[in-house]
Amino acid sequence: MKIEENISLKEHTTFKIGGKARYFCLVQNEKDLKEAVAFAKREKVPTLVLGGGSNVLISEKGFDGLVVKIELKGIEFEEARGGVLVHVGAGENWDSFVAETVRRGLFGLENLSGIPGTVGGAPVQNIGAYGAEVKDVFDSVEVFDPLTGGIFAMTKKECEFAYRDSIFKHEEGKHLIILRVTFFLKENGELNTSYKDVKKYLEEKKITEPTQEEVRNAVIEIRSKKFPDLKKFGTAGSFFKNPIIQREEFEKLLNDYPKLPSFPAGEGLVKIPAGYLFDVICGFKGVRHGDAGVFENQALVLVNWGKATAEEIKKLAEEMRAKVKEKTGIEIEFEVNIL
Ligand code: EPU
Repeated sequence: MKIEENISLKEHTTFKIGGKARYFCLVQNEKDLKEAVAFAKREKVPTLVLGGGSNVLISEKGFDGLVVKIELKGIEFEEARGGVLVHVGAGENWDSFVAETVRRGLFGLENLSGIPGTVGGAPVQNIGAYGAEVKDVFDSVEVFDPLTGGIFAMTKKECEFAYRDSIFKHEEGKHLIILRVTFFLKENGELNTSYKDVKKYLEEKKITEPTQEEVRNAVIEIRSKKFPDLKKFGTAGSFFKNPIIQREEFEKLLNDYPKLPSFPAGEGLVKIPAGYLFDVICGFKGVRHGDAGVFENQALVLVNWGKATAEEIKKLAEEMRAKVKEKTGIEIEFEVNIL
């Protein structure tokens, strides 16, 4: 395994932003990973694990340590428990993997089509879209613990999944490196077309009994309008999480904002679309400061229209967050990991 020096991280993130890594290596197997971790220990530098780089904003200062880019590959199918267990290397491209499951008629991931990034990143933030979340079809994960050098499996329960959250974002699990993810998919599953945008799309196309392929295509087409073309512009999808607030607080807000949408989020709680707060209440849609902007079709999405810096994107995000706080009292969290 080769360890390179002073490698630009820009091309390794979907935001197309970021300085240099002091050290950088590609990891294709467990041996590479162990060597990389040993190197960082020897040099006394921190490590940063990168998958598809689709949920990070890396500063121009770069990373003064070792960036480990996970390229562990392989997809295996195993019939079990009346369905199929699919074991997937963390470095596989997420959407190519989803396409393969749809091609094989394995149900459960079609609504998560078109999401950038790698398989290893999916459980970290429990990715979700169009009425589905990774946790719904997640079975287990195999991780490497750099502190002990051990490799072990974790069950769904141990991963502590919640809305865009898991143990891998918290102190107890942050250091763990995901090697392989196992999903449990069904051969004759049901399609979920209840999400507003999906339903509307299928109705417009007069598709009454959609196939799995048609649901995948619907999601991909809907997404293409909500996100900028990644081949041309930098973005990390939703920059913010949708806030979950007390139902009472929501009801008070209805006095000022009677059309404020909400979704049930557990007992006494509701989830508010942050996109609505940024767009309808604060008027941020399409706002642009230099090359840092808010996407015109989805106010949760920040875009690097060319040469935006991490600082400029962050400043815009902070401004948006402060405005929502001022107008509604709601605290919005970043979904993107800022480094
Ligand atoms: N809305 C607006 N203006 C906007 C955006 C949204 O008014 O600019 C309101 C509308 O009322 C709309 C509602 O918000 O009906 C929901 O919008 P949308 O369906 O686009 O979903 P979202 O809540 O904004 C979430 C996820 C996305 C995911 C979509 C579709 C988060 C942070 N984001 O967005 O996930 O694709 O649902 O399921 O939960 C991501 O996490 O990176 C991501 C892209």
